Amino acid sequence: MIDLRSDTVTRPSAKMRAAMAAAEVGDDVFGDDPTVNLLQEKAVQIFGKEAALWVPTGCMGNEIAVKVHTKPGQEIVTEDRGHILNYEVGAAAIISGVTIRAVKSGDGSGHLTWNEIKPALKIDPPYYQSATGLICLENTHNFAGGSVMTAKACSNVCKEAHALGLPVHMDGARIFNAAVALDTSVLDLTRDCDSVMVTLSKGLGAPAGSLLLGTKDFIAESRIWRKRLGGGMRQIGILAAAGLIALEDGPARLHDDHTNARRLAEGLVQIKGISIDVDKVVTNIVIFDIAAAGKTATEITEALAANGILAIGFGTQIRMVTHLDVSADNIETTIESLKTVL
Ligand SMILES: Cc1ncc(COP(=O)(O)O)c(C=O)c1O
Repeated sequence: MIDLRSDTVTRPSAKMRAAMAAAEVGDDVFGDDPTVNLLQEKAVQIFGKEAALWVPTGCMGNEIAVKVHTKPGQEIVTEDRGHILNYEVGAAAIISGVTIRAVKSGDGSGHLTWNEIKPALKIDPPYYQSATGLICLENTHNFAGGSVMTAKACSNVCKEAHALGLPVHMDGARIFNAAVALDTSVLDLTRDCDSVMVTLSKGLGAPAGSLLLGTKDFIAESRIWRKRLGGGMRQIGILAAAGLIALEDGPARLHDDHTNARRLAEGLVQIKGISIDVDKVVTNIVIFDIAAAGKTATEITEALAANGILAIGFGTQIRMVTHLDVSADNIETTIESLKTVL
């Protein structure tokens, strides 16, 4: 199988499995799992934040951040196609009691400028309106095709938000992909964000786990919410050991995924019926339109699956994601297969 459904499908490497087997562990609910503590300290150094917390999933990290930053009855701002709004099954409403104000990015990049965010904010509104409590950004932006937000653009939003007393949370599930594509550091890309969630189990290759970062107070409160949500786990040094390798070795090879994604886009644009802007493919996510193909996305993904290639279709679009288990040869096979299917 060539599995292009997501970069979450990777399997842990032999090195990771060996590290997991040998991991020193303790009870992390008591805070004494040495491997988890080491991973959290490493993340603190890399991101330049005060504290970090291991969380089982990216969704839990995002939702804890929303909970800790906001009060029930408030509103949060996300981009229209953002993960927190569309792919976390209403958790912000259920867990935090907030509503979400979706804002479309004017240039289609998925990244909001301050001029786009500002009209959506409600600062000190009349008592019968919901006040804005948080702005959420996403870098890279998943459903805008892995697009990147520059450090300057992010800092600008944060500075303007802070001037109004508003916190900013970064859904940085794939922030390392953004750093590689922009040739900068994750620290630069998240410098002014109040909190950051980064996922270890996507392109970085760990089998599970994300990290939430922020101030010491924010992380202390987040730890309480992680427990309340049932995410206080015990001997998770076994997973943190894989996370350490993901952090150390993962970023260096993301460039290969980006090269493969770009090659895939270059191949796809040659196929009649497929529409894609190759220049917009800058990380590991390739989203293309098949409205002119004469087949539905489901028909195409089913035909691909019969050829051993997995992808996700939604509406008139298909998404393919490159990762460490997808080779350059796999990309050529996928292009040829799509030619045959169409
Ligand atoms: C941008 C973004 N944020 C958050 C998540 C959630 O991560 P998890 O699947 O670990 O809950 C994902 C997962 O695909 C994502 O793409």
